Amino acid sequence: MQHRSAVRTIEAFILEQERKHPEATGELTNLLYDIALGTKVVGAAIRRAGLMDILGRAGAVNIQGEEQMKLDVFANESMKSALHQAGRVCVMASEEDPEPTLLADSDGARYAVLIDPLDGSSNIDVNGAVGTIFSIYRRVSEGKPCVDDVLQTGNKQVAAGYVMYGSSVMLVYTTGSGVHGFTLDPTIGEFVLSHENLRIPDTGVYLSVNESNFYRWSRGMQLAVRAFHGEQPEAMKAKNSRYIGSLVADFHRNLIAGGIFLYPGDSKNPRGKLRLSYEANPMALIAEQAGGAATNGVDRILDIQPTELHQRTPLVIGSKKDVEVVTKTLNGATS
Ligand code: F6P
Repeated sequence: MQHRSAVRTIEAFILEQERKHPEATGELTNLLYDIALGTKVVGAAIRRAGLMDILGRAGAVNIQGEEQMKLDVFANESMKSALHQAGRVCVMASEEDPEPTLLADSDGARYAVLIDPLDGSSNIDVNGAVGTIFSIYRRVSEGKPCVDDVLQTGNKQVAAGYVMYGSSVMLVYTTGSGVHGFTLDPTIGEFVLSHENLRIPDTGVYLSVNESNFYRWSRGMQLAVRAFHGEQPEAMKAKNSRYIGSLVADFHRNLIAGGIFLYPGDSKNPRGKLRLSYEANPMALIAEQAGGAATNGVDRILDIQPTELHQRTPLVIGSKKDVEVVTKTLNGATS
C-alpha cells in the first residue's frame, strides 16, 4: 500500500500549479476547491439515491416532516450554495435555472461560473453514471454583474471540468495547461491526483452516439457514422459502439481510451440537444487541452458566440483524427 505522504490532494496540486504563475492571487484555486466541495455533497447524495426507494422517494415527506428534494434540485442547490458562500463569484448560471443568478453582494468577485449540476440524470433511476460539469470565466462587467459575464465564447474560459459519479468519483479539470484527473478517496474525503496530464489518443477505438436518431440525420452525418462502423474497412477500422446517454460518462471513457462522441442536429432538432455553454464548451476545452478536438460538425465549438444562455449546439468531440473524419465527410456531402 502506498504511504499517505505520496498522496497529492487536489488543493495541493492546484496550489503547485499556481506557483508557476506569480501574478495569481489564489482566488481561482479557492474557487475550484469550492466546486470540489459542492460535488462531494452531491456525490454523497447520489450514493444514497438507490435507498430512496426504501427510505421514501423524492417528493415524499421524510421523518422530520420535510419534503425530500429531487436529486437534480438538490444538486443544483448544493452547487449554488458551495459557490455562493465564499463570495468569489459574481454570476452563476445553472442548466437547471431559466435565468442566471446575479450576486449583488459580491462586488469584488472576479469570476462567473456556469454549472450543469446533474448531467445525464435519466441514469439515476437505473443506477448509472452521472456527472456535474462546470465552466469558469473572468468577469467582464464593470459595474453590476450581468448576463454578458456568462455569455462569453468558450475560448475565454479560464477553467473547466467535470465530476463523474461512477464506480468511483472522479474530478477532471483544466486551467488551460493540460488536463488532470483526481479520484475521490472516500477514506479521507479528498480528491487525490490519479491521472496527471491526460492525453486523448489521436484516433479512438470507441463510437458514442444515439443511433435511434439515424434516420433524422443529414446524409453527411449518416455517411460519417457508417464510416465509423467500418463500411470501408480499407479506409477505417470499425469502432466499438459504446453509449451510456450521460455526456460526462461517455466523454470520460473516450478521453481515457480514445473515441468520438456525437450528438448531431437532426430534422426534428436542427441544433441538437446539448447546451453550448453548460455542456459543449467545458468539454471542448478539456478535449482540446488533452490533444483532441470539438466542433459542431463545421466550426470549432470554442469560437461560437452564444447569444442565449440555454442555446443548443450539435456536438462532435473526441479524438482529433476522428473529429476530422466528420468534418471532411460533412464537407464532401455538401460540396
Ligand atoms: O443533456 C443531457 C444528456 O443526458 C447528456 O448527458 C447526454 O449525452 C444526452 O442528454 C443523452 O441524450 P439522449 O437520451 O437523447 O441520447
